[in-house]
Amino acid sequence: MDASWLETRWARPLYLAFVFCLALGLLQAAKLYLQRQRLLRDLRPFPAPPTHWFHGHQKFLRDDKMEKLDEVVEKYPRAFPCWIGPFQAFFYIYDPDYAKTFLSRTDLKSQYLCKFRIPCLGKGLVNLEGPKWFQHRQLLTPGFHFNTLKTYVELMAHSVNTMLDKWEKICRTQDTPVEVYEHINLMALDIIMKCAFNQETNCQINSTHDPYVKAMLELGRIAFYPLHSLLVHNDIIFKFSPKGHRFQELSQVLHQYTEKIIQDRKKCLKAGMRQDNTQKRTCQDFLDIILSAQAENGDSFSDTDVQSEMNMFMLVGHNTMTASLSWLLYCLALNPEHQERCREEIRGILGDGSSINWDQLGEMSYTTMCIKETFRLIPTISSISRELSKPLTFPDGCSLPAGMTVVLSIWGLHHNPAVWKNPKVFDPLRFSQENSDQRHSHAYLPFSAGPRNCIGQQFAMVELKVAIALILLHFKLTPDPIRPPTFSNHIVLKPKDGLYLQLKILPDS
Ligand code: HEM
Repeated sequence: MDASWLETRWARPLYLAFVFCLALGLLQAAKLYLQRQRLLRDLRPFPAPPTHWFHGHQKFLRDDKMEKLDEVVEKYPRAFPCWIGPFQAFFYIYDPDYAKTFLSRTDLKSQYLCKFRIPCLGKGLVNLEGPKWFQHRQLLTPGFHFNTLKTYVELMAHSVNTMLDKWEKICRTQDTPVEVYEHINLMALDIIMKCAFNQETNCQINSTHDPYVKAMLELGRIAFYPLHSLLVHNDIIFKFSPKGHRFQELSQVLHQYTEKIIQDRKKCLKAGMRQDNTQKRTCQDFLDIILSAQAENGDSFSDTDVQSEMNMFMLVGHNTMTASLSWLLYCLALNPEHQERCREEIRGILGDGSSINWDQLGEMSYTTMCIKETFRLIPTISSISRELSKPLTFPDGCSLPAGMTVVLSIWGLHHNPAVWKNPKVFDPLRFSQENSDQRHSHAYLPFSAGPRNCIGQQFAMVELKVAIALILLHFKLTPDPIRPPTFSNHIVLKPKDGLYLQLKILPDS
């Protein structure tokens, strides 16, 4: 073969390609360098803990070491810049005045930190923005009205009792600690399936029977899995990863299932038939409410919107509830004197607990304080984040430029010794009327605040009260000294390897 032919025919394009790639690489490097310089300049006024030149502060974020964050909060009482690599930094805040300023704005949710796998699952209220978010928020709000919630109490109690029957059977045959997290997970899913679309899946007894239940459980595990790897933050890379592939398969199952339920319900409503047992039900479910919103708002609320909202409601609702109830049980197990005081209060209101109603929940003042104190000590959503659309100036005059990602650390705020006396101590009386009156409006934010606060907070409080009341009437809880829970913090703060508790059946239960 003629060497000079090869040289001219192939070497030149290769050479050009090489030069092109090199130029591209240099350009990218220059961009990153400038990005770093800009961040260094913008964040210079704010002191920060020592940082590794490459990993930044990622180490303590990655290890879910919440205690490490406590140390930082103690040293830097308002905020600190948190580097997550040489070229990216978030601004962590945990001061009530800073939080108030931050939450009064309408910045977009951070794409980097809080994406709920949008392309696979569709967009629900949690990840919508702008006018569409506003419209959905208005349409969905009636679904959380107390007249609707009132009707859920009985069906919640039924699901809790199913779980307690299981616990009783286990306790009669074993006296070792029980892993309660998975039981609570199924119970929370059972409740939300009934409240969302009146589905009796029997999932607490047979969790592998229903395809939707199976998919929802697995999806919960993937959706809330660590997002530390820079690679999986990219939607395209995630899509082609094994986890991403599985995620899409499961999303398909959910969509097909909800689509069928929605279409069936619509047919029934159209035909004026109540074959779906609506007349047997004592309550409207969430789907009834969404569909009536859709009927009134025609094209602006499509079937896909209904489907996305239903799936998001299920996924967010059951994962947050499972973690919250688990932490509540854990806190009461660690604090037997408060557990006993709650039990006495509940006995006084419910007697043997054979029935429970909305008005009784309102009487549980000490139990409510324990729930609030648990949310303070272990906030289920430990942080929320936004990308600044315009510069932000805090009340003390410090400011941040547009484009910066700000993270409100709810954990940091709730553990801030400048805000809370003895922040590590479980003290429900912090939430007595007298003590709450003196507090800063933004010192306590388990459900966030402002226009994008949690739409499900009343639902959550009702479910927690029903569950804790029935559990404490029947069981005494003590922690397992050998397996204390550790944190897994991926959107929802949950116990990493489950939650083991010693359950003791109470004599007159
Ligand atoms: C059990 C404890 C719960 C906690 C601690 C909690 C906490 C939060 C927080 C902090 C936010 C703000 C997120 C942000 O701004 O990025 C939020 C939003 C939201 N939560 Fe909850 N949540 C809980 C339960 C629920 C339940 C049971 C549901 C539904 C059934 C729900 C549905 C939502 C929705 C749809 C949003 C988005 C609201 C919007 O952007 O307009 N949450 N939640």
